[in-house]
Amino acid sequence: MIPYGKHHIDKDDIKAVIKVLKSENLTQGPLIDYFEKKVSKYVGAKYSVAVTSCTAGLHLASIVSKINKGKVLLTSAITFASTANSALFCGGETIFADIDKSTINISIDSIKNTISKNKVHVIAPVHFGGLACDMKKIKQIGKKINAIIFEDAAHAFGAKYSDGSKVGSCKYSDMTIFSFHPVKSIATGEGGIITTNNKKIYEQLKRLRNHGLEKEQEKFLLKKNAFTNDLKNPWYYEMQELGYNYRITDIQCALGLSQLKKIDKFINKRKKIAKKYDLAFENLKNCKPIQKNMRDFSSNHLYVLKINFKKLGKTRAKLMNEFRKTGIMTQVHYIPVISHPYFKKKNYDENDFPNAFDYYDSALSIPLYYDLNNKQQLFVIDQVKKLIG
Ligand SMILES: Cc1ncc(COP(=O)(O)O)c(C=O)c1O
Repeated sequence: MIPYGKHHIDKDDIKAVIKVLKSENLTQGPLIDYFEKKVSKYVGAKYSVAVTSCTAGLHLASIVSKINKGKVLLTSAITFASTANSALFCGGETIFADIDKSTINISIDSIKNTISKNKVHVIAPVHFGGLACDMKKIKQIGKKINAIIFEDAAHAFGAKYSDGSKVGSCKYSDMTIFSFHPVKSIATGEGGIITTNNKKIYEQLKRLRNHGLEKEQEKFLLKKNAFTNDLKNPWYYEMQELGYNYRITDIQCALGLSQLKKIDKFINKRKKIAKKYDLAFENLKNCKPIQKNMRDFSSNHLYVLKINFKKLGKTRAKLMNEFRKTGIMTQVHYIPVISHPYFKKKNYDENDFPNAFDYYDSALSIPLYYDLNNKQQLFVIDQVKKLIG
């Protein structure tokens, strides 16, 4: 089977993980800090905090943003559920803006329209498929309404903004959150990281991922419990706020460090594959690729075809089964969040998101990952032409 996405593991990755397995620290060891420093350097941010998943990172970002009852997070109608859930975990509310038809990212006009009717505390844009949103404009909007901005960059490790700087540098936001799930640019099994340039945010994130514990004596709140006759009590630490166990392990960070060495190779290959598809599907009547001509800045996490199923004369379910019979797995990214039963209860109006629903009705992701070889890609191209073209 050719999946839609997949990790690439080589001998160095395996060696790196085995080395940790034979070492003193499976978790809470030195590799976490080392991985964080390397990621900070790569994206051009001051600080990074590695966590168990992007979902965990989004949750912590919402806590740091002080989302609670009555506070509203605004995100894109087309995203994975965890972007929307991050505010709900904190007792807040999530509302959505429609997408832009050509980028599939959150629409600037729709953000403006939505904030004219709602008080928004956080804007959480999503870099769909690895293509960065127009963050310059989003930052301007955020400034006007005094909103915190955190970027859901689950798809976008290795991507660049239109000014050439790296997603994750937090040039236009307070925090950026990445995913290292196996289908993403680099893999740590499960895993994620939050980047920021704000020291206070960094310190709070580090506490929150570890139960809200503080171990540094200068930061203790109850000094009288921390010292005996001016000598620090060696066992002492403080739980200063409600935190979680979102600690990533040294095993995962060893894999992440080894994968990070290959990031340029990974991103270049993804771009090459995407461009080859673009060329091959140039003149197809029943479908068009999304985000075409935007490959150079994107991390090219997904390759999505917009298909006119009416014109094609078959349903998406039938087409996906036809692909599966040839050994090709396809997927749909994503069901609009408001269509899930959990969100249906909240009475959002589908008519507010015409572009998102038009996109959803026609989207199909085809295979794109580092290990997809030329022969496999030509086979996928042939099958697309045969079954859709
Ligand atoms: C846009 C988006 N945000 C967040 C996530 C959550 O990432 P994780 O699986 O690392 O929690 C995903 C996962 O695919 C995603 O696609």
